[in-house]
Amino acid sequence: MTASPEHQPVVELRNINKVFDTGIRTQVLFDINLKIYPGEFVAIVGSSGSGKTTLLNIIGLLDTPTDGELLLHGENVADMSEDERALLRRDMLGFIFQFHYLLPEFDVLENALMPCRLKGKTYEDQNRDRMVELLKHVGLSDRIHYRPSQLSGGQQQRVAILRALANDPRLILADEPTGNLDTKSGNTVFSLMRDLNASTGKAFVMVTHDREFAKQADRIIELVDGRVKDEATSEEGSPQT
Ligand SMILES: Nc1ncnc2c1ncn2[C@@H]1O[C@H](COP(=O)(O)OP(=O)(O)O)[C@@H](O)[C@H]1O
Ligand SMILES: [Mg+2]
Repeated sequence: MTASPEHQPVVELRNINKVFDTGIRTQVLFDINLKIYPGEFVAIVGSSGSGKTTLLNIIGLLDTPTDGELLLHGENVADMSEDERALLRRDMLGFIFQFHYLLPEFDVLENALMPCRLKGKTYEDQNRDRMVELLKHVGLSDRIHYRPSQLSGGQQQRVAILRALANDPRLILADEPTGNLDTKSGNTVFSLMRDLNASTGKAFVMVTHDREFAKQADRIIELVDGRVKDEATSEEGSPQT
């Protein structure tokens, strides 16, 4: 049975476990079941070491689960070759990390277009005007030809967010994107992600330490020692339990 596209999760995790075995065997994730739907903005919270990054890396095909199933848009990732997974990662997923990882020798526009460049020069050219518009939209129109080192931390992170959107992915994964920023820049970056979620309908999964940001997500997933504790909606006025 196949769900209609709009009701099909962008990503689904079924009984995902993750064990690291580097001398000492450590189980980091336990029986994670999770569905992320198109257009959702989901926050993952939990204390340091609870498995948030490991979970995000598995969703992002940057790491593999020890067992369990991962479906991206209904397709079981385990059935794919490494090349197919790499293509899926490139075309369906966007990544934002705590550190921006912009390339110092390229300017703002080139950095934001880097995922397009990796798909080919023609594709990069086709997307340049759209990216210039996006850069204007996020208040960086006068910084387009600056190098990353000439930007503030918040500006750098805004470029990294646009880079995550460059290939028109279905799902954006962000690992503590505001973790390295002061409060004001962090607020700007968070608002931008929320705006882009609303305006583009792309799903976002954001790991954050910040409860104030998490409360503004559609859904909060809390990890405690590698297990999903409970799911709370963040609706205004919902009873506190
Ligand atoms: N590559 C690895 N090898 C061994 N242990 C790891 C590895 N990556 C993460 N861990 C362990 O997994 C646990 C969860 O890590 P992580 O997912 O980074 O947590 P969080 O992002 O919530 O702080 C930690 O105890 C960490 O030491
Ligand atoms: Mg982490």
